[in-house]
Amino acid sequence: MTDQNSAIKFYSGEQIPVELHKVRIVQKLFLKPIEERKAAMEEAGFNTFLLSTKDVFLDMLTDSGTNAMSDNQVSSMLQADDAYAGSQSFYRMERALRDVFGKHYVLPAHQGRAAENIVSQAFIKKGDVIPMNYHFTTTKEHMELNGGKVLEIFADDALEIKSSKLFKGNIDIEKLKAVFKEYGKERVAFVRMEASTNLIGGQPFSMQNMRDVKKVCDENETMMVLDASLIGENAYFIKQREEEFKNANIKDILLEMCSYADLVYFSSRKVSSTRGGGIVTNSKDLYMKMRDLLVLYEGFLTYGGMSVREIEAMAVGINETCDETVISQSPSFIAYAVNQLDAAGIPVITPPGALGCHVDAKGFLPHVPQAEYPAGALASALFIISGIRGMERGTISSVRDENGDDILADVELLRLAFPRRVFTLSQTMFVVDRVKWLYDNRELIGGLEWVEEPPLLRFFMGRLKAKTDWPEKLLAKFKKDFGESL
Ligand code: F0G
Repeated sequence: MTDQNSAIKFYSGEQIPVELHKVRIVQKLFLKPIEERKAAMEEAGFNTFLLSTKDVFLDMLTDSGTNAMSDNQVSSMLQADDAYAGSQSFYRMERALRDVFGKHYVLPAHQGRAAENIVSQAFIKKGDVIPMNYHFTTTKEHMELNGGKVLEIFADDALEIKSSKLFKGNIDIEKLKAVFKEYGKERVAFVRMEASTNLIGGQPFSMQNMRDVKKVCDENETMMVLDASLIGENAYFIKQREEEFKNANIKDILLEMCSYADLVYFSSRKVSSTRGGGIVTNSKDLYMKMRDLLVLYEGFLTYGGMSVREIEAMAVGINETCDETVISQSPSFIAYAVNQLDAAGIPVITPPGALGCHVDAKGFLPHVPQAEYPAGALASALFIISGIRGMERGTISSVRDENGDDILADVELLRLAFPRRVFTLSQTMFVVDRVKWLYDNRELIGGLEWVEEPPLLRFFMGRLKAKTDWPEKLLAKFKKDFGESL
């Protein structure tokens, strides 16, 4: 039963994302009173990363390591073979990865950024450039630590919030050719394509674009690296949006995507709903350049920093990523939320993508200057009024330049992640409802300023505070409208 997705047509004509799974293990949630939510947000320095889950109602921070696991995944964990070297669990995972990605050599790593570390150390030297559709935070840091420079060569209109462009994650081929002309192929370490491009709103690239990028790479004898953390969802969008693939099965789409890449790496926290990561390739030469680094940083070749239980679950999970009912679930719920918010005139990234619903904080809070972090303010405000934890993906997630000034982010987003098969439709309706209320009361929300700003990846651990008493005003209005209701 692979040719199915979870948006089902109702008698009313509406397309409703129906859960094609049933809930068998549950975790109790708490929706605390708004006064406690506000206190928790203040204690967390207006940084949703620093909240404790005991205070969170719907945890939409990320889909990383938080997708629901299947019954088959959980049961596979019981047969794990604990061994430092030669574990049977590893061989089962290796077989599964070879089958799904079509690559022979498999290097396990404890998570995606560990794979980025190995790939960056092995293939980037000082002065190199790495063209890509868009950066991811940890990817960029690893590349820069190794002396590389990230070049983002997306199409000019890829960052438009409201758009009908189906493949905003595409690399602009003319810009790619221009990179080779300007720097020469010797300085291009590799070309990186990120599936379901995270920081521009989970936006996919097309298969045609991969073919075009591959052609330019071949002409310049340069390798193509694929970040496959969200490849399942990208494959689903290819099937939905690219005419040639409308009758293709997901497994074939995945195999074709990977066939264009010389090296594929991934966070399995996303792609296979487990906690780990890895690198795969068909080139013995590339494998040998990474192998010893892997042992140094991650652990022996047959576990790479992962527990054998997670390795077993990964072998099962990567196969489930070929099941359309699994990989369509998050995009269908995201589409539901995005379409509802869009219809209410709330600025959200369209078309709906993978990973989450992305609210445009600049459009939502035009009165909050970018230097006062509108996406961070919006994330804090939403938590206070709902217990929903989203993630800032804007200037707080950016860095400062050499003069110490903020590099203002291209887009200021509040990301509300939809981990696979975690939230129900009524919870999704609650999200839509509270974002609508917040939009109607948006003028109450003000900006943020730093209290404690770490120099590296400041968004993870940094602390901020409200510039005015806007949280109190928001609380008062919430109480006026909702009374004692949570
Ligand atoms: N590549 C992409 C495209 C990612 O989205 C992530 C993580 C990584 C690499 C790093 O993987 O977390 O396993 O080390 N994204 C998470 C997120 C953190 O919330 O979007 P990791």
